Amino acid sequence: MPGDKSISHRAVILNSLARGKAKIDNFSPARDCLATVKCLRDLGVEIRKLKAVSCQLSAVLVSGIAGDGFREPANVLDAGDSGTTMRLLGGLLSSQPFLSIITGDASLRSRPMGRLIEPLKSMGAEIWGRGKDSFAPLVIRGKKLHGIDFSLPIPSAQIKSAILLAGLFAQGKTILHQPMPSRDHTERLLKQMGTQLESDGNSLSLSPLTNPLSPISFRIPGDISSAAYFLVAGAIHPNARVVVRNCGINPTRTGIIDALVVMGAKLKIENERWEASEPLADIVVESSELRGIDVGGDIIPRLIDEIPVLAIAGCVAKGKTVIRGASELRVKESDRIAALAKELSKLGAKVEELPDGMIIYGGKPLLGTEVGSHSDHRLAMSLAIAGLVAKGETAINHAQIAQISYPAFWQDLLSLQAERSKEPPHLTSPSRREEYGEGEIGG
Ligand code: S3P
Repeated sequence: MPGDKSISHRAVILNSLARGKAKIDNFSPARDCLATVKCLRDLGVEIRKLKAVSCQLSAVLVSGIAGDGFREPANVLDAGDSGTTMRLLGGLLSSQPFLSIITGDASLRSRPMGRLIEPLKSMGAEIWGRGKDSFAPLVIRGKKLHGIDFSLPIPSAQIKSAILLAGLFAQGKTILHQPMPSRDHTERLLKQMGTQLESDGNSLSLSPLTNPLSPISFRIPGDISSAAYFLVAGAIHPNARVVVRNCGINPTRTGIIDALVVMGAKLKIENERWEASEPLADIVVESSELRGIDVGGDIIPRLIDEIPVLAIAGCVAKGKTVIRGASELRVKESDRIAALAKELSKLGAKVEELPDGMIIYGGKPLLGTEVGSHSDHRLAMSLAIAGLVAKGETAINHAQIAQISYPAFWQDLLSLQAERSKEPPHLTSPSRREEYGEGEIGG
């Protein structure tokens, strides 16, 4: 798997702030992570790519700026489609002594930023957004902030991380209370890099930096959010065994594994080990008879990005899968509740939309047809997995959007096929499609 996207963003941002150099192996080639690299370079950080192999970017070398500080960007910073880039840098730039403006593509400019602006303002930040401080572009006049004691209204790792980054340079402690745990990669890295960060249940307390962060070189574990497509593919395909090696299994991210196991997936975790402060393992999954389940509560932040592909498992499973408490899906790269209900219905699934989730009446055979990705990478890749078990051909519009998180997705999907037929992998152009047969990995 490509390196974890969430950890890659944090590894380059935090090492940029350190004193010294860090080499980050298996850095994610996701377009989102490249947007973070570009913004950091625009802020004066030297980041060198090492060994570029096709679209896989295998390592980056970051020279931290601890001594000199960031420089004011000469132009508007562009976060592209990446909410993590905008929100994490939004927090950090609020504490830096210059003006910055950060924008993104049309999708990112329609996503909520009030949730970032409000807590930063209460730390003393001067930050503004379009639509009465609700949307990007964001304008930030950085200044000295003060710590806060803040209860996050939603379990958002992006907002939590933004406030922690601002808190590194604030006066006094920053204390956060989360309604439920969200991914904790920022906390793990901060602790390893020498900050004073204490956690107690769902509360965190960060002391501002007194010394620069220590750089940390490590290999980023494989992205479980990218692995999820293959875990579901292995479980729902009638004749499959899939091994995902070197995959991150941070417990704040493994909701998809827990959900699949409860659904009856034959899934095993092997060879557990650690890389820096993150756990990783190999995951083996085999063809399984799945049954529908109820998904809600604390597990939601642990699988929020995997719900689109979990919905595909729900379509194939026997019985009802009910997903609730996931209204955040409405403000991701697309309204994932509405988009999934629409596209899965086109494939013949019975899906009922709920304000905060959906009910999937599983077991109806899927029939291939033309579907849309809604310019959402996770939709495009989930629909591809549906296409593996649908009868006939599934055509996905704007499928190249997968590059937002997983540029090699289509090659990797085809390489599973090649593995079985012992042929070298090919990218299927529409004219080659017939050669691969229809409806299943092996053709
Ligand atoms: C992310 C946090 C989640 C997730 C996103 C990546 C992160 O978003 O959906 O894909 O890297 O912090 P929220 O923090 O908005 O829940």
